[in-house]
Amino acid sequence: MIAVINRKGGCGKSTLVRGLASAAIARGDRVTVFDTDSSQSIYGWMKVAKQLGNWNDRAEVIHTYDPAEITAKLDAIYNEPEHDHLVLIDTFGGASEALDDVVLQSHLIVAPVRPGRGDYTETMETLIWHERLKGRVNNAQSVPDYRVVINAVSADPSATERQAIEQIFGSMPVIEEPIMERKAYKQVDGEGLLGEIRDNTRKGIIQNHLTNALEEMDAVLQLLDEAMLTDAEAV
Ligand SMILES: Nc1ncnc2c1ncn2[C@@H]1O[C@H](COP(=O)(O)OP(=O)(O)OP(=O)(O)O)[C@@H](O)[C@H]1O
Ligand SMILES: [Mg+2]
Repeated sequence: MIAVINRKGGCGKSTLVRGLASAAIARGDRVTVFDTDSSQSIYGWMKVAKQLGNWNDRAEVIHTYDPAEITAKLDAIYNEPEHDHLVLIDTFGGASEALDDVVLQSHLIVAPVRPGRGDYTETMETLIWHERLKGRVNNAQSVPDYRVVINAVSADPSATERQAIEQIFGSMPVIEEPIMERKAYKQVDGEGLLGEIRDNTRKGIIQNHLTNALEEMDAVLQLLDEAMLTDAEAV
């Protein structure tokens, strides 16, 4: 279970959720996404994807802000016969104490950050919120680890962008695989799951772009899986 949180708006939280959901579906997992954003970005995405035939029955999206509803649904998932199941929580900008309950049930917190925009400071603030959360709960070890994913790196990064990436690597718990800026992610936003769009298109070039994006998200998901396992062993 991964909570995608960064108080910075537009840094790529919902994009990461759509990408990870796509990668998990492509490898055969089941996926549940809790959309806690009042604009229902992920819930709306699922509706469009279903209309276009780019959805998969193993994925479901639940729109709710209610921690009790999330807990009840999680209990139901844990009671199902054993299977691989990725649970994602998409949040709105502004990590706050209202999210504590939900965060504490997760196995990892992930924040996308764009290099070279105003994201750095707000991502740092989100890291500080994470540290403070450890102080607020009875057992600091019950707070899941935090990882940063660099998002929307251009194919030919400028000097400023490269500097920003170095700064992130030097000061944040960042995973090795960055997410590139890709048209494919915009397409996913408007059309559905990456693998399903690819399987429904006949244009070879577009198929290749979608495959590259899917492989990228699969690599990110594998690194996040590893982070969750390391964390579990440490506890
Ligand atoms: N790697 C990427 N490549 C191309 N476009 C991207 C990428 N990441 C994000 N975008 C685009 O940037 C915009 C903002 O991204 P997104 O909606 O994922 O951010 P968010 O953090 O969920 O925003 P909010 O805080 O408003 O919920 C969207 O139009 C999305 O398609
Ligand atoms: Mg969003």
